[in-house]
Amino acid sequence: MDLKLKLRLRPSFFISFLIFILFLINPNFGLASNPKCISTEREALLTFKASLTDLTGRFSSWSGPDCCNWTGVLCDARTSRVIKIDLRNPNQLVNSDEYKRGCLRGTIHPSLARLKFLSYLDLSSNDFNGLEIPEFIGHIVSLRYLNLSSSSFSGEIPAVLGNLSKLESLDLYAESFSDSGAFSLRASNLGWLSGLSSSLKYLNMGYVNLSGAGETWLEDFSRVSTLKELRLFNCELKNLPLSLSSPASLKLLEVLDLSENSLNSPIPNWLFGLTSLRKLFLRWDFLEGSIPLGFKNLKLLETLDLSNNLGLQGEIPSVLGDLPQLKFLDLSANELNGQIHGFLDAFSRNKGNSLVYLDLSSNKLAGTLPESLGALRNLQILDLSSNSFTGSVPSSIGNMVSLKKLDLSYNAMDGSIAESLGQLEQLVDLNLMANTWEGVLQKSHFVNLRSLKTIHLTTEPNRSLFFKLPSTWIPPFRLEFIQIENCQIGPSFPMWLQVQTKLNFVTLRNTGIEDTIPDSWYSGISSEVTYLILANNRIKGSLPQKLVFPKLNTIDLSSNNFEGPFPLWSTKATEIRLYENNFSGSLPQNIDVLMPRMEKIYLFHNSFTGQIPSSLCEVSGLQILSLRKNHFSGSFPKCWHRSFMLWGIDVSENNISGEIPESLGVLPSLSVLLLNQNALEGKIPESLQNCSGLTNLDLGGNKLTGNIPPWTRKLASLFMLRLQSNSFTGQIPAELCNVPNLHILDLSGNKISGPIPKCISNLTAIAHGTSSEVFQNLVFIVTRARQYQDIVDSINLSGNNISGEIPGEILGLSYLRILNISRNSMAGSIPEKISELSRLETLDLSRNRFSGAIPQSLAAISSLQRLNLSFNKLEGSIPNLLKFQDPSIYIGNELLCGKPLPKKCPKDIINSRLL
Ligand SMILES: *[C@@H]1O[C@H](CO)[C@@H](O)[C@H](O)[C@H]1NC(C)=O
Ligand SMILES: *[C@@H]1O[C@H](CO)[C@@H](O)[C@H](O)[C@H]1NC(C)=O
Ligand SMILES: *[C@@H]1O[C@H](CO)[C@@H](O)[C@H](O)[C@H]1NC(C)=O
Ligand SMILES: *[C@@H]1O[C@H](CO)[C@@H](O)[C@H](O)[C@H]1NC(C)=O
Ligand SMILES: *[C@@H]1O[C@H](CO)[C@@H](O)[C@H](O)[C@H]1NC(C)=O
Ligand SMILES: *[C@@H]1O[C@H](CO)[C@@H](O)[C@H](O)[C@H]1NC(C)=O
Ligand SMILES: *[C@@H]1O[C@H](CO)[C@@H](O)[C@H](O)[C@H]1NC(C)=O
Repeated sequence: MDLKLKLRLRPSFFISFLIFILFLINPNFGLASNPKCISTEREALLTFKASLTDLTGRFSSWSGPDCCNWTGVLCDARTSRVIKIDLRNPNQLVNSDEYKRGCLRGTIHPSLARLKFLSYLDLSSNDFNGLEIPEFIGHIVSLRYLNLSSSSFSGEIPAVLGNLSKLESLDLYAESFSDSGAFSLRASNLGWLSGLSSSLKYLNMGYVNLSGAGETWLEDFSRVSTLKELRLFNCELKNLPLSLSSPASLKLLEVLDLSENSLNSPIPNWLFGLTSLRKLFLRWDFLEGSIPLGFKNLKLLETLDLSNNLGLQGEIPSVLGDLPQLKFLDLSANELNGQIHGFLDAFSRNKGNSLVYLDLSSNKLAGTLPESLGALRNLQILDLSSNSFTGSVPSSIGNMVSLKKLDLSYNAMDGSIAESLGQLEQLVDLNLMANTWEGVLQKSHFVNLRSLKTIHLTTEPNRSLFFKLPSTWIPPFRLEFIQIENCQIGPSFPMWLQVQTKLNFVTLRNTGIEDTIPDSWYSGISSEVTYLILANNRIKGSLPQKLVFPKLNTIDLSSNNFEGPFPLWSTKATEIRLYENNFSGSLPQNIDVLMPRMEKIYLFHNSFTGQIPSSLCEVSGLQILSLRKNHFSGSFPKCWHRSFMLWGIDVSENNISGEIPESLGVLPSLSVLLLNQNALEGKIPESLQNCSGLTNLDLGGNKLTGNIPPWTRKLASLFMLRLQSNSFTGQIPAELCNVPNLHILDLSGNKISGPIPKCISNLTAIAHGTSSEVFQNLVFIVTRARQYQDIVDSINLSGNNISGEIPGEILGLSYLRILNISRNSMAGSIPEKISELSRLETLDLSRNRFSGAIPQSLAAISSLQRLNLSFNKLEGSIPNLLKFQDPSIYIGNELLCGKPLPKKCPKDIINSRLL
């Protein structure tokens, strides 16, 4: 070899040597980085690709010659055979737009079956739009991993999958997220599972409809004795066998999920033979009976979820407290009862307990909370809400050093809250609402709550829970969520609240704060706060003007002593409650710009003046406008043209003048219209008959004129019609009888003449006593008061010029409670069968010209509490059985005699002479 040659060889020799060394280090070097794709396999992949639609370019790399470096494809390093195809949707946020666009669609070409060495196939989270799972997948017998989950396959799972004898993991989870339908897989015969019995470790058939799989479903699964994880979530399984022929066959099972099936059975004993179980999920299964002691066999159990069965009863057995590995226990939403002492004592004996999560909420557990709670030093989440626990928060709570969330809400805890609570440095979320706490909360209760973000604390209005914190104390926490109700925080607005400027939810209701709140607090929270509720205090002062609250949804400052002008806050609030304060001045003309999303605005009971701004017409989502008892004047806005949602208007007790605007008739949703106690004049606009959903109409106490409108019969939902104290004339129209839902009719104090129409018995609601709660609630929502409650089922025609007799038909109104026809010109006798109005509470016939005797049957109306027959022409003796002692209800009837009137009746005189 000459030198030249040697020199030429040397570099390549060095490179070869280097490669050799690298081979020693990593035998796959070179081959791994550069496999050569086999052309028949490349062809198969391209054919497969061609039958799929791909909106987001997931196949963009599937073109070059080397299929082994295409995205989602992996080849064997030595043989270059394709061994893995992973086409799982890269976006896992189901239902997001990215997820949907990322879905592959189309069909699955059988060319895949040509990949004879494929061991891993993941087509999950795509959208095959109801395609059946292709049979040929069962021919790719090299598969060890197959994932077809959430890809909108439908139909019967092919039995040929049972030929995949090397399969270790099979995921057929079938929840479908397709836009084009709810596809579901089913399996009506599970015999094929036995073909997988030597290899399968993981099987997920969640959401597969197994209702047709017969009684043997459990035997079929249990034959796969290699299984470590079996998930049958929401499979429409109906019957849970109570025994298993060979429970030994599932000896390796570590995870079992049978949740969301309608098992309707007790917890079966065969479960306790599955001694490898680490996780058991049996939630939403309609399981019943008690929790068996057999759980003590499951020594490896880490997770036990028996929640939401609604029917599990009895006490929580203490054996659960003995399970050494238990980390997660959810028994919520059942009917468990008794105390929890035994069970928690067992945990505390088990010193190394590892419990991290304990949810016993929504059961019927009772008794006090034991001191042994404190032994749960690893517990992070404790939810005991919605039970019947009583007593105090035990002082051992301070030992639960890992606690992040404590929920004792909705119990009957009537004691005090232990000071050691203040030691829980990890506590983020504290919920003590809806109990009947008492006692005093001091600095020590909060002193080390560094992590606290959320506090809910409410008690009954008549209990006393006091905050006694130093007025200048600055706490270690910055809260995001505070809800305190019926506890005494005030009278001052303390420093510990003033420094909370990260709040995004505030409720301080009935907390005795009588102070002013510094403007800086409002501006501090303005950027994040969504709910600002300071109702039922005695907070003074005016609000800072011109703040921007970009996230504010609800403002409730009602029932305080706020004063000053309406706050010019720019918000997206939907609900604004400033009622029962002393705000004054006029409303801003640009209220539609400041609060464009306003749906419900409650300003009643303040001192607002000026006109109701017509820009309210521009707030298209407005539903409720509640302005009662202010000093608004001028005319009511006339511009209603886009308030399609407006259904409740209450501007009563103001000083509104002019006419009722015609344009109210364009409000398609109008249901409650209260314009009473104002200075309105003119006629009721005909257009109101278009508001066919009108339920409550009160126009009383105005200066309205004209006839009672006959078109009220078009208002099929009308529950209340009050036109009292106006100047209406004419007769009562017969059409009024045909308002089927009318429960309250008040025409008193007008100039109405003519008779009471005989058709009055056609007021079906009063005749048959239909339910009126819905209508009453509608008014309540608008007025926040029950001012009409006492006059349901009443007819008041008093103070008119009505003549004629009481029509006998009126006796058909058997649910009538109040009948007032006083101060009219009616004559004739009181109907003999008046007792047919058997629910009557008030009957006022005074100041008419009724004659004849008082019918005896009047005394048979046991509900009658108020009666007035004075100033008529009644005669004869007052029935003995009438219990009323007040003579004034009978006076002014010259020919009437007997108790309680001083005038004795002739027959009494005779009797007394005889005695
Ligand atoms: C495939 O290989 C080519 C050339 O080696 C390289 O440029 C490309 O980035 C690779 N593609 C993928 C998806 O790895
Ligand atoms: C199957 O794919 C889904 C995502 O599409 C994934 O959540 C699931 O864990 C996979 N199953 C297995 C057994 O790996
Ligand atoms: C499984 O494969 C065998 C032989 O390959 C075949 O005879 C049999 O029909 C297959 N089973 C099913 C259910 O397709
Ligand atoms: C499940 O399958 C059964 C018949 O096997 C059918 O009656 C039932 O409607 C199916 N359930 C759903 C939700 O499709
Ligand atoms: C406190 O008020 C609740 C209702 O809010 C009532 O049930 C309870 O009996 C009252 N308790 C006392 C001691 O007055
Ligand atoms: C309400 O405010 C007005 C001034 O705006 C004042 O005259 C009146 O006394 C206040 N009423 C109450 C009850 O404080
Ligand atoms: C009362 O109602 C009945 C049936 O609902 C109807 O036939 C009758 O005409 C009505 N009477 C009057 C006066 O409207």
